Amino acid sequence: MSWVEETKRRAALEAVKEVRSGFVVGLGSGSTAAYAIQALGEALRSGVLQDVMGVPTSYQAASVALEAGLPLTTLDENPRLDVAIDGADQVDASLNLIKGGGGALTREKVVASAADRYVVVVDEGKLVEVLGVGQVVPVEVLPFASAFVLRRVGERARSVHLRVGSGKVGPVVTDNGNFLLDADFGPIEEAGELEAWLRSIPGVVETGLFLGLADIVYVGTRKGVRRLVK
Ligand code: 5RP
Repeated sequence: MSWVEETKRRAALEAVKEVRSGFVVGLGSGSTAAYAIQALGEALRSGVLQDVMGVPTSYQAASVALEAGLPLTTLDENPRLDVAIDGADQVDASLNLIKGGGGALTREKVVASAADRYVVVVDEGKLVEVLGVGQVVPVEVLPFASAFVLRRVGERARSVHLRVGSGKVGPVVTDNGNFLLDADFGPIEEAGELEAWLRSIPGVVETGLFLGLADIVYVGTRKGVRRLVK
């Protein structure tokens, strides 16, 4: 396992300690969240935890959970979650995030908002001083509106592209049946204003700016795990 993977795994193992028996847990998507899902399955198998269920934010998270033996439930059955554990693409000092590298941002934001505590797990390479430096902001859009939203966002962004998949020709289609735009705004000084502006464009479903949502961030480093609290 590479050092980056090891630091992701370390962060995930610490975050899982936030989970108690009987909890319903939101399950984020991506490689770091997957380590947490696997660790939850292992904790159930070994009897360290009992009666834990997960609400997955993607087919990927659901599939990792099924393989790990972590029972799944839905937001319909559990509209309030005890905790959600999720990865991120960038984290700033105020624990604001950019997410959506894996395209699961909309369900991830719903699950984060439904959780009493939103716990984020990252490797130290995800920590930044200013969001948006070297990182696009993913935006989920209705397919019908994608060209229009692309034009509008392009009037403000340095560049914006429709996300195109590998293993499939044409646009990436999210688990919600929508498209994704990746917009480069450069350093984002007024993230709240940008988020509000993006959400004001008809056809935008959700953005990858997660502002004021994270309660705790576990950062895996070569020396150990840092716990950042809001
Ligand atoms: C998926 C996400 C992921 O959490 C984010 O892209 C980080 O992924 P990874 O842990 O693989 O680096 O937002 O929509």
